[in-house]
Amino acid sequence: MTATQYLADWQPYPFNILETRLEFDLAPKGTKVRSEIRLQGDKPADLVLDGAGLQTLSLRIDGVEIAETDRIFEGERLTIPAAALPEGSFTFSAEVAIDPEANTTLEGLYLSGGMFCTQCEAEGFRHITWYPDRPDVMAPFHVTIRSEKPVLLSNGNPVRREPGLAEWHDPWPKPSYLFALVAGNLVSIDDHFTTASGAPVDLHVWVREGDQDRAGYAMEALKRSMRWDEEVYGREYDLEVFNLVAVDDFNMGAMENKGLNIFNSKLVLASADTATDLDYERIEGVIGHEYFHNWTGDRITCRDWFQLCLKEGLTVFRDQQFTSDMRSAAVKRIQDVQTLRARQFREDQGPLSHPPRPDHYQEINNFYTATVYEKGAEVIGMLKRLIGDAEYYKALDLYFTRHDGQACTIEDWIKVFEDATGRDLTQFKRWYTDAGTPELTMSESWNDGTLTLTFRQDTAPTPGQTQKPPRVIPVALGLISPNGDEALPTTVLELTETEQNFSFHHLGARPVVSLLRGFSAPVVLRREISAEAQALLLAHDTDSFTRWEAGHDLALDALIARARGEHGGRAYIDAIGALLEHGAEDPAFTALCLALPGEEEIATALSDRGQIPDPDAIHRARDGFAAEIAATHQDALARLYAEMAPNGPYQPDAEGAARRSLRLASLVLLSHLDEGDRALVLFGIAENMTERFGALGQLVAAGRARESLELFRQEFAKNRLVMDKWFMVQTHRASPETAVERAAALAARDDFDWKNPNRFRALLGGFAANHAGFHRADGAGYDFYADWLIKLDPLNPQTTARMCTAFETWRSYDAGRQEKARAALTRIAATPGLSRNTSEMVTRILA
Ligand code: PHE
Ligand code: ZN
Repeated sequence: MTATQYLADWQPYPFNILETRLEFDLAPKGTKVRSEIRLQGDKPADLVLDGAGLQTLSLRIDGVEIAETDRIFEGERLTIPAAALPEGSFTFSAEVAIDPEANTTLEGLYLSGGMFCTQCEAEGFRHITWYPDRPDVMAPFHVTIRSEKPVLLSNGNPVRREPGLAEWHDPWPKPSYLFALVAGNLVSIDDHFTTASGAPVDLHVWVREGDQDRAGYAMEALKRSMRWDEEVYGREYDLEVFNLVAVDDFNMGAMENKGLNIFNSKLVLASADTATDLDYERIEGVIGHEYFHNWTGDRITCRDWFQLCLKEGLTVFRDQQFTSDMRSAAVKRIQDVQTLRARQFREDQGPLSHPPRPDHYQEINNFYTATVYEKGAEVIGMLKRLIGDAEYYKALDLYFTRHDGQACTIEDWIKVFEDATGRDLTQFKRWYTDAGTPELTMSESWNDGTLTLTFRQDTAPTPGQTQKPPRVIPVALGLISPNGDEALPTTVLELTETEQNFSFHHLGARPVVSLLRGFSAPVVLRREISAEAQALLLAHDTDSFTRWEAGHDLALDALIARARGEHGGRAYIDAIGALLEHGAEDPAFTALCLALPGEEEIATALSDRGQIPDPDAIHRARDGFAAEIAATHQDALARLYAEMAPNGPYQPDAEGAARRSLRLASLVLLSHLDEGDRALVLFGIAENMTERFGALGQLVAAGRARESLELFRQEFAKNRLVMDKWFMVQTHRASPETAVERAAALAARDDFDWKNPNRFRALLGGFAANHAGFHRADGAGYDFYADWLIKLDPLNPQTTARMCTAFETWRSYDAGRQEKARAALTRIAATPGLSRNTSEMVTRILA
């Protein structure tokens, strides 16, 4: 029943839309939507429209009701045969009734806390009215809203406002997925922006009454984003007003609707006592992301959903650049690589592996993945590195001028770079079309002042793709002499073949290769390197990514050995000792080096080396190693912990965040020695959520959080976002033996509002991130998790499907766990009436 969609089947839509007019009479149970679409075709063609769950009241062509025999309904499709249509231009109008109150899926028009709002990407608009709901059909929209709600918003510029009515006009042609409407009891904080060419823009951040005092940071982040896109990409805003709305019930992070961005409230609201540094950083990044979509997504959109990474990869790349410019580029790059490995590499090495530009899917909502977003961004980073900054911005200028107002493909994008630089990018394009993470093996030979490096690239087969021809891999490297001097500054090698050699001559002493600087390509590295060489890099490398990576690899090697019951870790402990001496000079970097690889990462590293990971042994090994590090460096850690105490009022900037990150990284290690004594003190005195929540996590892990959790709950019972943290920290940080029971007890509480995606993700997502708890040997974790997915699916298929990814690594565990995971997955798959979303996910995971 579930039909697969293929890229190869794309056909142009046979009509242009000159204008789309919509009128909404809003009511929770019976909203009426009247539409008038002015179409124009050059030759006779059937009119095909999408619609889902609509109560159709009237369908007309040029004002005349369409005969029953000329309306052909098939699934989510309505076809009006060419013979029933006038030649040239005509108006299709429809009147439908929809039920926002009953809409629990959070796509289309729904209610969140009494407020009407919409989510139309990818195919939500068809739940609002009959329409060619595909991204390559673009039109200017004129929208009339009738409702008693005080605030009525849609895309574009306001044209009329009277009691109970608002009219909006969006002059920029857009596809239906960028349509938005909001109606509610909202309050705004207001500001202004003047574009580089002098155009005034009114800015509004809309929140629920009472939340205004937590919306200021979002507004500042918005203004920084607008300025940044002008300065770096020469892109100005193009409407009189920019509205940003926070809603509590949202499946994703945020949405770039033209002129009316809608955000998950967790990515808008922040204050020192309710949000952590990480929350602030994400808010700034996502506000930037959605704003940058105005050009990379809205003005230039996607021809079809297979091209999703055209807008998402590019916009993630731009938001990463923005955060690097606003904060620390070095820290941002390390964090981005950590996320890429934890999410995208994991995806690429499992059953859900797909290319950044897939060529088939069943449910597009299942393709808002780490591969489309994060790997899509990495591919652009590689391109930029290969051609250089000047050529990159030249190509982007060409992209904006050539394709403004169009719905484009990856081929268009590649062609822009070929034309701008004169390069042939045929082989480079494989990064878009081929799935899988290449393994890059480097071996070295040293002969009388000459170092020869041999590189080999291999990519394992992925589902549906067995042939993996070599790709273009930019390898940035440098050489570090044994005395710590840099013998060769960063040089970019361009690999194009399966195997290639490069030699470096006239070297005095044999240097250590600082390989893949800045993580210049999303590959898995294989090389032989001694612990001494890693320590040299950690101490002296000039590139902060490879420097961090050296310490990280030392820690990972130690943890792998320990998880196997062997000894290990001396090299890391010694190297860290040297780093700690000057730890306060670069607190963020020191903190990153002190954070041990997570249990999931250790498990992956073990299976990479052909071993079956034992989650309990990994958990113990990590705890034991942390305790040993802390015991060795107790004094230095305690000194840093004290030194990094607040030295002024909380500021959510990079400098303050860096100090707090080192304070908490020290606390994490010290808590393995003092059993949470310091954490308990910090919890009591902390004046910001970053320290407070950091302390709470340690207390939960130490099994000493009962009272603190209760204090925290009493203080924040009315703040949904903070209560999400309260749920999350308990399932995430509970000891593996008690995690399932703890999660089940929390899930039984009245305030576990499981229909709210943030709350559901907090409890269940936190639990799935508790590696040894989720993968408990008796399968209780899998069963608990599966029960909840089965319960959520009929209400919210999108969030359910996305959360199935907790199971994507199931085949790397032992036979007993595999059997239990398979049983849980099979049980989900066999649920009667399972959504297409979840069904596709479990089928692929089980395959
Ligand atoms: N397009 C949104 C973004 O990345 C994500 C999104 C997809 C939101 C689908 C809602 C639904 O910015
Ligand atoms: Zn996006």
